[in-house]
Amino acid sequence: MSGFARCDRTTAWAALRVHHEVEGRVLDLREAFAREGDRAARFTLAAPGLRADLSKNRWSETTRSLLLQLALECGVTAQRDAMLRGDAINGSEGRAVLHTALRAPRGAATPFNAEVHEALDAMLAFAEQVRGGAFRDVVHIGIGGSDLGPAMVVQALQPFSQPGLRLHFVSNVDGHDLAAVLPQLDAGKTLFIVASKTFTTQETLANANAAKAWFLAHGGGDVARHFAATSSNVAAAGDFGIAPERVFGFWDWVGGRYSLWSVIGLPVAIAIGAEAFRALLAGAHAMDRHFVDADAQHNLPLQLGLLDVWYRNFHGFTSRSVAPYHQGLRRLPAYLQQLEMESNGKSVDRDGEVLSYATSPVVWGEAGTNGQHAYFQMLHQGTDVVPVEFIAVREPAYGFVPAGELGERLADQHRKLLANCLAQAQALMRGKRTSEALGERAPTANPDLAPEALARHRSFPGNRPSTLLMLERLDPTSLGALIALYEHRVFVSGAVWGINSFDQWGVELGKALCNQLLPRLASGETDGLDGSTAAALRWLRGDLA
Ligand code: F6P
Repeated sequence: MSGFARCDRTTAWAALRVHHEVEGRVLDLREAFAREGDRAARFTLAAPGLRADLSKNRWSETTRSLLLQLALECGVTAQRDAMLRGDAINGSEGRAVLHTALRAPRGAATPFNAEVHEALDAMLAFAEQVRGGAFRDVVHIGIGGSDLGPAMVVQALQPFSQPGLRLHFVSNVDGHDLAAVLPQLDAGKTLFIVASKTFTTQETLANANAAKAWFLAHGGGDVARHFAATSSNVAAAGDFGIAPERVFGFWDWVGGRYSLWSVIGLPVAIAIGAEAFRALLAGAHAMDRHFVDADAQHNLPLQLGLLDVWYRNFHGFTSRSVAPYHQGLRRLPAYLQQLEMESNGKSVDRDGEVLSYATSPVVWGEAGTNGQHAYFQMLHQGTDVVPVEFIAVREPAYGFVPAGELGERLADQHRKLLANCLAQAQALMRGKRTSEALGERAPTANPDLAPEALARHRSFPGNRPSTLLMLERLDPTSLGALIALYEHRVFVSGAVWGINSFDQWGVELGKALCNQLLPRLASGETDGLDGSTAAALRWLRGDLA
């Protein structure tokens, strides 16, 4: 298969199966910690911008070395090098995958370095011009990879943002999204950015056309001054009416969900400025270097990707929950959903051969501590084991230095946040035996319930795995590194699975059917539709009582 061994046909895969049966399935984290005094140290890895404790995962040194063997047999390193070189590893679209080239420093021996920096300089110069004060609001219109990355990063780096400049993100074709933003705007002080790699996406074009209509109807005469575009379809952006000097182009070798580092990052650059945007790129580049230079024993993206394979294919875990204990990272789970599930939600290998093993887990989550008061119940006592990824940030940054009593209170809240984060990971691992629960008083429990039954309600299985990613602070550099870490980890599991992580044919069918249904919603024509769709269409049109 494309010159690489298929994972399920390697000797490491067979060995991992046996190892899981004999050891992996029954590994108890509490016993492992009691037995191995240096477990935390051995499974803690340092990478640029962060430190990762992988020790509360259900694996041992044997597991890790078998997984590294699997990576070797599947040619993960060779596949990585092919990506970095610019080989057309996105075979089904015949494209190279070069988001790493977007964050390589000027003059680096990476593909398209001169073009990348020319485009970056132009985009950053425009961002600085926008920050100059002519606009009060910037409305970014895009969806998927042309929205999630910039929206997540702008939110995360809010303390580094230019005060007085408001950024809005509109993505949904649901007009409620745009309608909620428009009343806040003054047409004369607003810049609209239409972000679409293809410039054909239904949602984005609908919102962009509606925004233009609103702009013209509200006294905004100069579309050329108030609209910009970021796209690889420069001609279509021009046809939309955007002035050529305001169209920032990029290339087909930048995948939508990997495009944050390209001109698609324009709203980020407007929010945080050119220097900080370059720091974001530098952080990501440092993680690229780590992925290439660190040996397997210390390579964080490699080990995280392999751990994902271990959990998905051997333990059979179907999802992973991401819990950033930082309010600024509350959109990270949504961003990661696209990154991971659009990349690795595939059921054929690169040659189109149907797979006999599972691929992408469901990735989901919420910022801590909010998630604790929603779904953590299921993580602790539910019937499924869901590995959790905690993200903790040591130093808070509020965008101002809180003084006096507020300062003390916020410092206390930050300690509470961190304590909650550590406690949840501890609780997942430790659990509580029924015998322990039996010995406790539970003032709010039903006094009529038999103590043994109550103790079972109040016991926790424990041995539930988690990873802890720790950042010193959340700033452009560390955030760039964190995002690049996730990109490479997704690459690693995809490379082991032998799939094309860079296409997304799975979104096509729904788009095509939507285009067929659209005229039927206007006409009410239901001939040939299945009974369910026909009835729903009639009801939604108001044709049924
Ligand atoms: O959802 C499919 C998809 O093609 C994503 O991969 C992409 O990020 C998104 O649509 C938006 O596409 P575009 O940037 O071309 O508007």
